[in-house]
Amino acid sequence: MGTIQSKYSNVSIPPGVNHPGKLQIVLASMITTSAMGKILEKMGVCSEITFTRYIHSGVKLGPDPQLSLEDARFGQVPVRVYRPRALSACLRAGAIFFHGGGWLYCSIDSYEKICRYIARESELVVVSVGYRLAPEHKYPAAYEDCLNATIHFMKNIEHYGVDPANVIVCGDSAGGNLAAAVSQTLASRSDLPKLRAQILIYPGLQALDFNLPSYQQNRGVPLLFRERAAFYLLQYLNGNASNLEEVLQGSHIPIDIKLNYMRKWVSPGNIPEKFKVRGYKPHKPHEFKAEVFEKVKRFFEPNLSPLLAEDAIIHELPESFILTCEYDVLRDDGLLYKKRLEDNGVRVTWYHLEDGFHGIISLHDFCGSSFPAGERGLDRIIKFIKGL
Ligand SMILES: *[C@@H]1O[C@H](CO)[C@@H](O)[C@H](O)[C@H]1NC(C)=O
Ligand SMILES: *[C@@H]1O[C@H](CO)[C@@H](O)[C@H](O)[C@H]1NC(C)=O
Repeated sequence: MGTIQSKYSNVSIPPGVNHPGKLQIVLASMITTSAMGKILEKMGVCSEITFTRYIHSGVKLGPDPQLSLEDARFGQVPVRVYRPRALSACLRAGAIFFHGGGWLYCSIDSYEKICRYIARESELVVVSVGYRLAPEHKYPAAYEDCLNATIHFMKNIEHYGVDPANVIVCGDSAGGNLAAAVSQTLASRSDLPKLRAQILIYPGLQALDFNLPSYQQNRGVPLLFRERAAFYLLQYLNGNASNLEEVLQGSHIPIDIKLNYMRKWVSPGNIPEKFKVRGYKPHKPHEFKAEVFEKVKRFFEPNLSPLLAEDAIIHELPESFILTCEYDVLRDDGLLYKKRLEDNGVRVTWYHLEDGFHGIISLHDFCGSSFPAGERGLDRIIKFIKGL
């Protein structure tokens, strides 16, 4: 139990957060899940990861009067396609959705309510992608599955009554990371239609700096703690979280990356001052350790850290919607990407939830209730889609 206590010892729910009492209950259920998972693992029943996945597996819903659902495989990749039943005189838009869950958790079923909501409210065809999860499947498995499913959809698009010029990618958290990586890859493909837009919901976009203002300010705010952000990235990359401490301190970053990329693109200097007033101290990274770099060097690939893509790629990206939350360690990833897109002439619609926390959108209709701020964010996303 000692490890459970230490994992949650820095937890804090800021008073400015949307419905702090309700978030307290969500937090209690997270702590319980983690504690039970640890006990079951000790008893040899199942691993903590297996148990947490079970808890997040979602509930089976009945048919939807407004949507037809189809489970399929796009190449090797399982997907669920949500199509509005209402007849449409013209081709619809299509959205490929990549769910969140730190590359370790969640599934098509866990995001069933959100995907249905988006398909119904924006009257488009939604494809939810069941990409492979870490730690069993390491990077780039999830990215490749998302890319392959997207390409497969584009090549068979007539079958779904979708306009090839109107395809968007969308994802939250780890799914936002995957959506950004897929967008970048497709930006350089001339054999496929261009994406119409990308929607990045509190995305994780880098594995370099875990001491940006938002990581310091929100280190203990649920649903994503600072240590967990690095833990998930390491699990995705290597299938284990070795070197967590060194990565948190920045010992994995060689001097040339610091000088050539980090200073330009992943710097607190690029974060507007108003986001630094709430307790932030500039961090001096610890001494570089070559043996740590050797183990995590693929962190610096843009398919894993999309913030590190060259300007020539960023310049080609489609119109973008970025949602950030004030009480989220990943807030600054989103702010830094917004700046990179804007510096390269890409149109960005930015929506900042002043009272939002990481994961708030994924709690849509969670146990029969939602966070009002999350619904505000979701409705902004629908509005953006409808305005395309
Ligand atoms: C992705 O698609 C390519 C080309 O069709 C194929 O060669 C590759 O095996 C696929 N990868 C996965 C992980 O399905
Ligand atoms: C963690 O993964 C890395 C890279 O795959 C590997 O070199 C290392 O031995 C692993 N560590 C543990 C404790 O399994």
